[in-house]
Amino acid sequence: MPSQPLVIFTPSGKRGHFPVGTPVLTAARQLGVDLDSVCGGRGICSKCQVSPSFGEFPKHGVTVGQDALSPWNAVEERYDSIRGLPKGRRLGCQATVQGDVVIDVPSESQVHRQVVRKEATLRTIVMDPATHLYYVEVAEPDMHEPTGDLERLAAALEAQWGIGGIVAPMPVLRKLQPVLRKGKWAVTVALNKGHRDPVHRLIDIYPGFHEGRIYGLAIDLGSTTIAAHLCDLRNGNVIGSAGVMNPQIRFGEDLMSRVSYAMMNPGGDVEMTTAVRAAINSLAQSLASEAAIWPEQIMELVFVCNPVMHHLLLGIDPVELGQAPFALATSNSLSFDASELALDQVNAAARVFVLPCIAGHVGADAAAVALAEEPDKSDDMVLIVDVGTNAELLLGNKSRVLACSSPTGPAFEGAQISAGQRAAPGAIERVEIDALTKTPRFKVIGCDLWSDDPGFGPATAATGVTGICGSGIIEVVAEMRMAGILDQRGLIGSAEQVGSARCISEGRTHSYLLHDASAEGGNRITVTQGDIRAIQLAKAALYAGARLLMDEMGVQSVDRIVLAGAFGAHISPKHAMVLGMIPDAPLDKVTSAGNAAGTGARIALCSVEARRAIEATVRQIHKVETAIEPRFQEHFVNASAIPHATDGFPNLDQVLRLPELNFNTQSGGGEGGRRRRARD
Ligand code: FES
Repeated sequence: MPSQPLVIFTPSGKRGHFPVGTPVLTAARQLGVDLDSVCGGRGICSKCQVSPSFGEFPKHGVTVGQDALSPWNAVEERYDSIRGLPKGRRLGCQATVQGDVVIDVPSESQVHRQVVRKEATLRTIVMDPATHLYYVEVAEPDMHEPTGDLERLAAALEAQWGIGGIVAPMPVLRKLQPVLRKGKWAVTVALNKGHRDPVHRLIDIYPGFHEGRIYGLAIDLGSTTIAAHLCDLRNGNVIGSAGVMNPQIRFGEDLMSRVSYAMMNPGGDVEMTTAVRAAINSLAQSLASEAAIWPEQIMELVFVCNPVMHHLLLGIDPVELGQAPFALATSNSLSFDASELALDQVNAAARVFVLPCIAGHVGADAAAVALAEEPDKSDDMVLIVDVGTNAELLLGNKSRVLACSSPTGPAFEGAQISAGQRAAPGAIERVEIDALTKTPRFKVIGCDLWSDDPGFGPATAATGVTGICGSGIIEVVAEMRMAGILDQRGLIGSAEQVGSARCISEGRTHSYLLHDASAEGGNRITVTQGDIRAIQLAKAALYAGARLLMDEMGVQSVDRIVLAGAFGAHISPKHAMVLGMIPDAPLDKVTSAGNAAGTGARIALCSVEARRAIEATVRQIHKVETAIEPRFQEHFVNASAIPHATDGFPNLDQVLRLPELNFNTQSGGGEGGRRRRARD
């Protein structure tokens, strides 16, 4: 029977006997308890805080006396008087074991703490970043035993932290000597070690004990927009998010036009690479200045992007991605120095991680969606649609996951639409059309009122009504179909056919007047036949991709659908289904995941284990190539109808019945055809 006191840690439940006088931090380390420390037990960092509990613990079979830990010592007194220790807390490196004790490790003292995402899909991220801070005391140089400062720093890290294999990139090596001397041979280092790195890299070095925060950028590099989250690498908190248009748009709106630009113009790929890197630099700079941090505090970047963006970011000519067999330069994940990308608005030694690509048309963005949404862990058959200029689709469950991409074009993001615009204050985002009168009402971003509510005019006076954003376009087209303004083939009816003066003749076609403030000097916003065609092409590509995956999987329906993408959270499931963007499914099983690719990037930024996991998952995902699949064209043609030429929508039919219309007078459809009134 051991006579040494029993130490029990919660919440882990790890326990062991230790000699009287053992520091709690030492006991925790020996038991493998997740207790943080930056200063190595010197009483400087306060990361090792613990909460001892006293009294009877029948569950653990112990009674803990008030004297189970040593009394407060001078270091704790000093820390408390200067910084304040929360009530009941002790510094684990200072308090020593005196008797049986139960010790709670609060979540902020755990290195691998769990962070619960607040977004639509509740899931946890286990913090396991590649970059950490360590305080270390380094031996002074000795003429009789000549060694370099770096070698003595490495020896100190080995002795005090058990960390070997230190390499110092040039920017750190240049500041090493003055910082060591300024810190009187005590320094804090930021060390980075990726999951496949054999060494620890010095990212930065500070004199003395440095408590500064370290940050990373999770970047979703899309064809149309670049979205970035600035994350605190200690707790995963997002302290700033921003998005900018991808400046490569001026070289071509979609991926293939950018590949063509590179093919047709010598040096075109370099131009595009320079443009996107400049945009990332300015994004990093503005995020850092808004968050009031120094660019040097950004020590890591994680990128997710489609294969063409991937190659252009890395400075690789994307020409091979424009032609079968669509070979990638590499499909593996990549880790390298940010300086390789000429990123100068982050720490000079910052590291980059790029998620693996699934295949030539299915990139690291799809891998990031898989990391965030975990279709490979789903019991039911889930279809995940990441809506963007190039849509990524994943279909599967625990047994098998398939992926493809589909060239939807930028229509869903407001481009190619006459009144289209990016989501910004003043943009129409919600639309309802009265099926009887054909009168619309709408909401704009930045105002909670509907356009027919009293006070809408003054409330939107500052922004005006400027255009229609992606979710608004989906809603207005679906509402036009539900209200009998648009037929199944996507033709807008005439004023006579529809029975509304809002249908305006535009020569051989018609447009629908959504908003007219031209008399007051405002905008006149219409939905034209060209707009409908652009949306039909985009949604047919999306639907055809989904059908192709379902064919390959051998299923006729899916159990649930997740809409992801920068504006995925704003898409109304009912309208998406009326439009025929997605296959039929129970409406309550269609959910939004927000920017899942961005979330996947964030997870990879916060966890090296997640990087390892997604590399393994990607190898299991089977890629379906839409570009060379003959059935894609067949599915595409049928999916051009609204919602679809042949596929039934039984779940949608339970909620509403779409009018049967044919506005094509050439084909004998005539004046409005037969119509049935929408039920809701
Ligand atoms: Fe740093 Fe205890 S480990 S204060």
